[in-house]
Parts: sequence; C-alpha cells; structure tokens
Amino acid sequence: MNSERECFVYIQMPRSLEVVTCGRYALSPLPGGGGVGRFVYGRSYRSRPDAVAIDPIHLPISPRTYETGKLGGIFGPLRDASPDAWGRLVIQRVLGRQDLDEVDYLLESPEDRAGALFFGRGVAPPASVRKYNRVLQLEELRETARLIEAGGSTEQLRDQVRHVLDPTTSMGGARPKNNVEDETGLWVAKFPARGDKWNNAAVEAAMLRLAARCDIRVPEIRIERLGDESVLLLQRFDRKKVDGGYHRHRMVSALTMLDAEDSPTDMTNWSYLLLADELRRWSSRAPDDRAELFRRVAFNALISNNDDHPRNHAVVAAGEDWRLAPAYDLVPNPQLGKQERSLALVCGHYGRVACRENLVSAAPRLGLTPEDAGRVIDQVADVIGRYWRVEVFAHGGTEADCASIAPAFLHAGFDYPAGAL
Ligand SMILES: Nc1ncnc2c1ncn2[C@@H]1O[C@H](COP(=O)(O)OP(=O)(O)OP(=O)(O)O)[C@@H](O)[C@H]1O
Ligand SMILES: [Mg+2]
Repeated sequence: MNSERECFVYIQMPRSLEVVTCGRYALSPLPGGGGVGRFVYGRSYRSRPDAVAIDPIHLPISPRTYETGKLGGIFGPLRDASPDAWGRLVIQRVLGRQDLDEVDYLLESPEDRAGALFFGRGVAPPASVRKYNRVLQLEELRETARLIEAGGSTEQLRDQVRHVLDPTTSMGGARPKNNVEDETGLWVAKFPARGDKWNNAAVEAAMLRLAARCDIRVPEIRIERLGDESVLLLQRFDRKKVDGGYHRHRMVSALTMLDAEDSPTDMTNWSYLLLADELRRWSSRAPDDRAELFRRVAFNALISNNDDHPRNHAVVAAGEDWRLAPAYDLVPNPQLGKQERSLALVCGHYGRVACRENLVSAAPRLGLTPEDAGRVIDQVADVIGRYWRVEVFAHGGTEADCASIAPAFLHAGFDYPAGAL
C-alpha cells in the first residue's frame, strides 16, 4: 500500500498580495515512526524572475527533488509554518481525532501561520478565506482556551464556538494563544495558562520592554485585561497591514537555520556560536545581528531564561533580505541558590553554562572583542537591575509577582568562574 501523503505549498510573494503555488511536499511514513519528506519547486514558480526560496540555504530554487529524514520527514520551513503543542491540541479537539500526521497538521491548520506559506490539496491556491478574530472577541477565545485546557470534549467545544469564531491557530509554542486583529494590524494573543505561578502577561511584557531598554529589538506589545486576568498582545512582525489585506514575510526558526532536531535527547547544533555563524550567511546585516545576538544571550543569562530553545529565535524576510527577527518569548525562570544556571543553547567554551566567563569566551564568534563583550554584559546587567521591577509594575504585575520571579535576576553565580559551582 502506498501510504504517501502530499500537499501543495503556496507562497505569498514578497511585498505583494499575490499567492502562487511554489512547490509540492510529500511525506512517506517509515515503519516504526518518522518518515522521509520530499519537496520540489514547481516549474512555473522556478521560471518566475521574482521567485524566492522558502529556505535559501537548505532549499535554494532548483529543479531537484529535495529529501529529508529530519524532524520526522518535514522540512524546517514547512514545520515552522505548522502548529506546535497548543495548536495541535486544539485541532485534535476540534476534529475529534488523535491520529493526525504532519501533512494533516499542515492542511487542517489556519492561515494565521508564521511566515508566508500556505498549504492545500489543489494545484492552484484557493482564494484566501481567513477572517481573523477581533480583539473584541478575546474573552470568547479565552473561554475556549480554558475549555480545551480543562479537557472539554469535541462536542462541548463545537457547541461553544458554533459559527462564532475559529479557535484553531497555526502559531507555534505550547502556551494557549490565538491571533486577533484590530484596525492597526494582527496580534498574537498569549493567554494565561493553567498552573501559571505569576501574572505571565505582565512578566513577559516586562521582559520584552526590559530587553528593548538593552537595545534588543522587540515587537510592539500591549496588555488587555479580561476581568482579573491579563492577556499579552504582541504585534505580528511577519505581517504588514496594507490596503486589501496583509503582506506576509517569510520566516524560519533557528531550528531550521541550525538544521537541528527538536528533541531533548538530540540537541546537536543547539548553539549560539553556530547560530552566529549561520547569521553570516542568512542575514543581510550580519554584523549588527550577530552583535544583537550577543546582547540577547547576555540578557537571557541574566534573567535566567533557560527556555531560549531554537524555536524561540527566528529570521524574517520582509522582501528579499533576511534579518534576525525581533526577540520574543523571553521568560525568567527563578531558581533558588547560587547553583549553576544554564541556557538552552551552547553559549561558549564551557557549553551551556550561563556565566560571564562562558559568555565572554563566545564573544569573538559573535564578532565582539572580549572587552566589548564585558561592557555589553555590564550594561545589560545594569539595566536589568534598575528596571525589572519598574517594568513588571508598569504592565500590571504586583509585589507578589515580583517576589516570585526575583531569584531569576542577576544571580550571584553569574560572576563565578565557569564550573566553580
Ligand atoms: N510577534 C510575533 N510575530 C510573529 N510571530 C511570532 C511573534 N511572537 C511569536 N511568534 C511565533 O509564534 C511562536 C509561539 O510564540 P511564543 O514562543 O511566544 O509562544 P510560547 O507558547 O510561549 O512558546 P514556548 O512553547 O516556546 O514556551 C513563536 O515560536 C514564533 O514562531
Ligand atoms: Mg516559544
């Protein structure tokens, strides 16, 4: 039996509303799990003078058929356009199915996906149908997310959302979320999650504004209050509102840039040093982006953000050229005591250890001298020390929220020699 699954891949052309077919993706499942994926650009797409690659490094435009066994057989840029834990759970619940494969997730997930790609069964792209939920519908969306988290049945869910709104999303990540629109554009809405120990919206907003104070580029944000809860809205940096719709910017994660697996048992290539090397070939402003990457590493180390995995970094192309995307998902992880803290990616000669000596050892790979790196660390630490509480309060956080996260900041072990703790 031929169990191959396939779909067409469409792309919205840069700085345009035109959507065209760019290629075909097929997945052949392997016995025992995983699969082999194949992707080929369409001939008419290849012949367009304005054709752009969906991944210029691993999938440059060419007549060849590409193959991959990575990520279970799905190419990085396609996987980056597909939902993760949260979006998959919602689709499973809405469809009442658990047996979905990667092609199902591509076909069943909505048009709000990161980047410029679409997927479908027809050789020609279907007319765009997506109507986004409005900011005014946040409360209903929040209730739907709560029902899904609480294990509500497909029937309950269908009843709740009948004709009113689409609870599905293609956005990545594990936290409950959706997209909402207003007259200014499209926003990712991140809801409170069950088990949150502090006001996550206030804290995440505060970390982004704190990062901005450290010269790290971040999306525009705002907090919406729903009763006594806060929802974080992040303006989509891969969309630009124009007359008649949105321009969509290509976007791929660092997981794709690093050609890495998404598995806690295989963290090969999970490295800021390699990511800095990749920026040399991806970014049109590599020196600036590599220097900013160092600021982000320092920032993550000094707020104990150990959830800085490769899907929490990305590059984005508004036109032809790629740039490091604005920072997102910056979350402090308070740990008590002086014990060693670590990042998710290798950040120096001493592996993942989040300490000054290790970060400084990485500096030359990111284009900085050790002296410059030391100055950046001092500046970032100074800003964090002075403003983290100010920003938490400015976004609706409380004294109790600050007490919960305080141990994450400027931990004492940061200045100990690597390996001393
Ligand atoms: N402002 C934005 N514009 C465009 N895309 C975004 C934006 N913020 C986040 N994304 C995309 O949405 C995904 C999910 O966002 P985010 O990482 O904040 O969610 P999360 O659920 O907290 O993730 P995690 O599971 O890593 O904790 C990101 O990986 C990124 O692809
Ligand atoms: Mg994330």
